[in-house]
Amino acid sequence: MSRRLLAALSSAVLAFGLAACSGEGAGGGTDTAGQDPKDLTIGVSMPTQTSERWIADGNSVKQKLEAKGYKVALQYAGDDIPTQSQQVDQMITQGADVLIIAAIDGTALTSQLQAAADKKIPVIAYDRLIRGSKNVDFYVSFDNFKVGVAQASALLVALGLQNKDGSKGAKTGPFNVELFAGSLDDNNAHFFFNGAMQTLKPFIDNGSLVVKSKQTAIEQVAILRWQQETAQKRMEDLLTSTYNDGSKVSGVLSPYDGLSRGIITALQNAGYGTAANPIPMVTGQDAEIASVKLINDGVQSSTIFKDTRLLAEQAVIAAEAFLQKKQPQANDTKTYENGVKVVPSYLLPVQTVYKDDIKAVLIDSGYYTAAEVAAGQAK
Ligand code: GAL
Repeated sequence: MSRRLLAALSSAVLAFGLAACSGEGAGGGTDTAGQDPKDLTIGVSMPTQTSERWIADGNSVKQKLEAKGYKVALQYAGDDIPTQSQQVDQMITQGADVLIIAAIDGTALTSQLQAAADKKIPVIAYDRLIRGSKNVDFYVSFDNFKVGVAQASALLVALGLQNKDGSKGAKTGPFNVELFAGSLDDNNAHFFFNGAMQTLKPFIDNGSLVVKSKQTAIEQVAILRWQQETAQKRMEDLLTSTYNDGSKVSGVLSPYDGLSRGIITALQNAGYGTAANPIPMVTGQDAEIASVKLINDGVQSSTIFKDTRLLAEQAVIAAEAFLQKKQPQANDTKTYENGVKVVPSYLLPVQTVYKDDIKAVLIDSGYYTAAEVAAGQAK
């Protein structure tokens, strides 16, 4: 037998062997540990492209995995739950070896995750915890309670009730404020709101903050799917229902830049944003470029920067650990109980960004260029 034929035969046997032990598709049931990255596929499921942050996340994860030689199947679900379920199903049948998922609805993927588990495909929840399933192997995110604390603290600082170092500020209020929360089906929304409310409560209790609408329960202030338009509509409704007596709103707790932009639009349409009628202090999250511009222009008050490059890196580290049949290193094994089990997590720190911090935190770190900030658009 010629050497070439022998080589061809042995690789055919090898290929057959791999297919045989993985069943249908080349999915995670295979012994991925010794395999060439180019023979391994990572499925990456992201919620939506309407928010710039998820585009940055998807791109970062893809680039980092591809740089290591892996194949990547990246899908966006247009914030539609059946679409995401179907995309994840497809990744499983097409032989993904690991799944990285940022869920739209944290409880809607149970059957997909069971299918993944049946094929021994590890699942990493990306930024949003997947709830109600034992088949979530790891969670990479930020300290979400601290995000809420940081948002509320930024509101207090902007109003002058507190200094950046946490000491008592020069102002005493009372200030009228309104509260917003994220989508109730996103686990993070609850962490953000709880962190924020714990921080704001003493100020509400002592009367220096007044929630004039009296809407303080998360169910009353939540915005389904984190939609900008819904937030704008709720702010418009608040202005007509609660501030039609000449009173002014001074601050708005907003948990995400997209919502903040909707809230700001409603306020501007109602005449806020002039010297006589200044725009209220509005918080945010994600340092989306359009909002960074608004902060730079003195329109939005702050945001919370979550470096998606670092999050993507942690997701890649976790994926590689699983491919090598190792357990990724967690730095939190207590907080993220998903209704069935505590999911081992790697949580990253966050940074508050006011106008003065844009250069040091966002530009000097290479996250955005000065030109992008000025234009309000990332390349
Ligand atoms: C959350 C995430 C936030 C924000 C929000 C809306 O799950 O933690 O950073 O992006 O979704 O997309």
